[in-house]
Order: sequence, then C-alpha cells, then structure tokens
Amino acid sequence: METVLSGIRSTGNLHIGNYFGALRNFIRMQEENQCYFFIADYHSLTTHPTPENLRGSVKNILVEYLACGLDPKKCTLYIQSDVPEVLELYLFLNMNAYLGELERCTSFKDKVRQQPDNVNAGLLTYPTLMAADILLHRADKVPVGKDQEQHLELTRVFANRFNRMYKVNYFKEPQAYNFGENLIKIPGLDGSLKMGKSEGNAIYLADDPATVRKKVMRAKTDQGPTQEHQEKSQEIQNLFTIMQQVSTPDTCAFFEDAYNRCSIRYGDMKKQLAEDLVAFCAPIRERILALSGEEKYLEEVMEEGAEKARANARKTIRDVREIIGFRK
Ligand code: TYM
Repeated sequence: METVLSGIRSTGNLHIGNYFGALRNFIRMQEENQCYFFIADYHSLTTHPTPENLRGSVKNILVEYLACGLDPKKCTLYIQSDVPEVLELYLFLNMNAYLGELERCTSFKDKVRQQPDNVNAGLLTYPTLMAADILLHRADKVPVGKDQEQHLELTRVFANRFNRMYKVNYFKEPQAYNFGENLIKIPGLDGSLKMGKSEGNAIYLADDPATVRKKVMRAKTDQGPTQEHQEKSQEIQNLFTIMQQVSTPDTCAFFEDAYNRCSIRYGDMKKQLAEDLVAFCAPIRERILALSGEEKYLEEVMEEGAEKARANARKTIRDVREIIGFRK
C-alpha cells in the first residue's frame, strides 16, 4: 500500500480551485491508500494572521475537508502544528537547502512582488517546510495542483541530498499524483490564470447560491468572437475551463459550438455555469453548515488525527536523528 500525503494552507476558506486541483483526489485516494491529509497552519504564519483568524481558518478548513468527504476513519486527518516533529525535520533540511534554489522558486518570487514589505525567512523556506511535511511521513504520492509542482521537485532534491550526504537510502522520491490527468490549474473569474484564496477571484465551497450567481455574472468576458473558430481570450478560456469541471460534457459542447459559430451569448453561458456551480457547491455547503456547530466531534477528529500522525512522525525523527549522529 502506498503512502499519500497532502495539505492545504489554513488561510480563509476553500475554493473550487482547491477542490478540483487537490481535494477531489484526496477523497478518491483515501479509499485505497495510507493517507495523511493535514491543515498547514504553520505555513499560514507567513502572512501574520491574528490568533482569532488563525483559529478560525483552521476550523473552517477542517470543516470543509470533512464536508467534501474526507473520512477521518479512512485517513489520518491532522493539524500541522499538532505534530511539531515536523519542525525538527524542517531545521535539518534547512541546513542543506541553498539560498539560490529557494530564491528561484516561482512562489517565492510571486510573494516578493505581492508583499514587498513582508519578505520574511518563512516565505523563503516555505518549500523546506513543505518538504519536511512530505518526508516526515515518507510519502510516495502527493496529490497537488499544478502550482505545487516546483515545490515537489525541490522535495525530491532535498530527499536525495540527504540520502547522498549520509550515504543512506532513507527518503523516497515523492511523486505528484493526479489520477493520470495532467495537473490542473483552475483559473480565476477575473481573467487571471489562477483562482486563489487571497486574490478575490474565487468561488468558495461555502458561498451561498446568491453569491455564486453574483460572482459568475460579474466574471470578466470580452466583446465576443467575430470570426468562426477564433482563438479564445484568457477570460473566456477561463470560463470554459471552469465549466469543464462542473458542467456536463453536453453543456460544454453546446457553448463551445456556439462560440465557434459566433452565436454565443456570454450571459447565457454564465447563467448556466452559475447554476452548475450552485448545484455543485450546495450539498457541500449544507454539510459545512451542519458540521460547523459540531465542536465536540471536530475536537475528537483533531485529537485522533494528531495522535496517529505523531506516532508515525516520531518514528521518522528517531531514525533521522540517528542517521545524522544525534542521540535517538
Ligand atoms: P494551498 O492552500 O495554496 O493549496 C492547496 C492545494 O490546492 C491546490 N490549488 C489549486 N489547484 C488548482 N487550481 C487552483 N487555482 C488552485 N489553487 C490551489 C494547490 O496546488 C494545493 O494542492 N503549499 C501547499 C500546502 C502544503 C502542502 C504540503 C501540500 C503544505 N505542505 C505538503 C502538499 C504537501 C499549498 O499550496 O496550499
């Protein structure tokens, strides 16, 4: 049986990009694998949340994980900070992570651009903490969206470097996993290439139907095609990409055809897309609302997850300490 690990940062709420890029795969994977899914709350500190925001976001993501179908009986579902062993591995990996390779990460360069006043060391070493998450459980597979490919590549670099340095074959090379499809990137409703938690361009799983409709109807479009089979602008391609995830193949083909014949009415396409998104989100939203009040159950889930994850983490740390030359 393979070990699968993945996580989501605890910042705000989950959006459909997280769902189609990552979560959908988590749900399928828990059926057949030894799975560790966690909420990356240490990672969220790079943006300096208040204690209330931090607590609120962790709870939101936990509830949303469960509402999407993660089953704590089938997988180990835990909060990253409940397993502080990861920090020891993070430190070890940081000793062999080089400034140049960390600075070259696209995600780091993006953050430098987005938050020039807060380029902290945690942002720079974000990929080493992520590598520590993965290597802590010696995962074989990591279901992620396309944006995380580079971090996963670095994880392999760090794993191999550790093995070479200590002449062991301890860490495996984790692979991305997306069920044979290419890794997916769900675009934003504002014409941008990626839907993001903090970009203001997302449909959240917890959005109510009126909000979903409003957001979709406001999504950017263009003037419309003037020639048959015209290449699509980014904003129109984005709507089609989202439609491919939530609408039926017939619906997609209908609007594709209308676009190619220049008879498309974007208003109609958006209405259809909004209804399909509402139908997709509504049952998840219902479960989110129901689970939000279940404090005792949520507490139990976190406790149980922390225990299972820590047991495995301790074992890795014991091994790694011994390999490095520390007392076990
Ligand atoms: P985060 O919270 O940014 O993203 C969580 C997951 O959602 C995917 N994702 C998307 N997929 C497709 N289209 C989008 N628009 C989109 N936006 C987000 C991400 O690829 C990711 O799979 N660094 C991780 C959290 C993390 C982690 C780990 C993941 C920390 N440690 C170890 C795997 C293994 C992240 O980006 O979270």
